[in-house]
Amino acid sequence: MIAVYPGSFDPVTNGHIDIIQRAAKLTDTLYVAVLTNPSKKPTFTVEERINLLKKVTEDIPNVKVEPFSGLLIDYAEKIGAKIIFRGLRAVSDYEYELQMALANKKLKGDTETLFMVSNSKYSFLSSSLVKEIATFGGDLTGMVPDFVISEVEAKIKRR
Ligand code: PNS
Repeated sequence: MIAVYPGSFDPVTNGHIDIIQRAAKLTDTLYVAVLTNPSKKPTFTVEERINLLKKVTEDIPNVKVEPFSGLLIDYAEKIGAKIIFRGLRAVSDYEYELQMALANKKLKGDTETLFMVSNSKYSFLSSSLVKEIATFGGDLTGMVPDFVISEVEAKIKRR
């Protein structure tokens, strides 16, 4: 079975990595799909986000990291994915996730969204929070992989 785990990954966090590891165990091929849509004004370029993801998933043979643009559901169809994985951290995620899942279902009925409950260790974590902590010089240990810490700090300094 082919599945897709889409997101902005700006940058990848330990919460994302936990979902990727768990979702990869349930699928033959897991595409980690990075949104290229510039309207979200990402901090990291799509190439940078992809390179970080490739590095953190290099030991998981059935994971492929790719960019995507346009509708997620069209990308899912192109790669033959019948499942979309999304992580759920808290109830506050649910409304937005439900809206996306229902919209995707309306657009293409045979693709299912599966919600994976985030590991409680990471349920507070988000890419935005990571960037905010870095902006004010906080310690990112345990929130992103060690090599990502320096990338985030360097990027924030240059802004
Ligand atoms: O990590 P994010 O930013 O929460 O991921 C959101 C993402 C990329 C999954 C979502 O914005 C998306 O799928 N965008 C592509 C356009 C689309 O298909 N939108 C949902 C259907 S209305």
